[in-house]
Amino acid sequence: MDGNGRWAQARGLPRTMGHRRGVDAVHGAVRAAGDLGIRYLTLFAFSSENWRRPAQEVTELMGLLKLFIRRDLAELHREGVRVKVIGARDNLASDIRGLLEEAEHLTRDNKETTLVIAFNYGAREELARATRRIADKIALGEASPEDVTPEFMDSHMDTAGIPDPDLIIRTSGEMRLSNFLLWQSAYSEFVFMPCLWPDFDRKAFEDALNEYSSRDRRYGGLSREIAS
Ligand code: FPP
Repeated sequence: MDGNGRWAQARGLPRTMGHRRGVDAVHGAVRAAGDLGIRYLTLFAFSSENWRRPAQEVTELMGLLKLFIRRDLAELHREGVRVKVIGARDNLASDIRGLLEEAEHLTRDNKETTLVIAFNYGAREELARATRRIADKIALGEASPEDVTPEFMDSHMDTAGIPDPDLIIRTSGEMRLSNFLLWQSAYSEFVFMPCLWPDFDRKAFEDALNEYSSRDRRYGGLSREIAS
């Protein structure tokens, strides 16, 4: 969800206004995902590197997440959305941790779209967390080094049980992954769009999906036409 700051700056507004409009785009994207039959939607809401931003901006982003959960959780629940949060919890304020846990707990049995919120998330940190979980099991004799397969790694990531992303969309014209789902994106398709996140509407979402449908996913094999 990149480009909130630039969206605001282009209008002579403070960056925080861009984040507020970014939350409106989040609502639109969650609704569109449900309508379009997308079962898993992951939003990169706050990275482990975003703590380096000015304190006022960090406070604003924390406040927007709290507001989103307090104000919209009931509606998400009514619509059958299951909320799952990935990222580190230990260095978050206890009220945010509590809200994230409440959102996950309340919606845990919902069966429509799963909304994965990557909050205080960094892929390298996630890989280190998974490695520590596995190392602890080995130290306790609950697993052996031979057990460590890609599937075993999968089941120790924050995303355990969530399928790898088919498509990763990055807005604002930046063309890099910025520490997002490094392990899970091995065979993802990427769509980089010039539009800034607050302008990401249903049309932009559908454009990205149309681009995705034209891709030939080979997973290291041959394309269907050549193989047949
Ligand atoms: C990137 O734009 C956006 C973020 C770092 C924060 C996104 C967070 C929200 C929209 C609010 C909370 C999330 C939820 C799920 C309710 P940028 O600031 O890096 O933009 P720039 O590159 O133009 O400066």
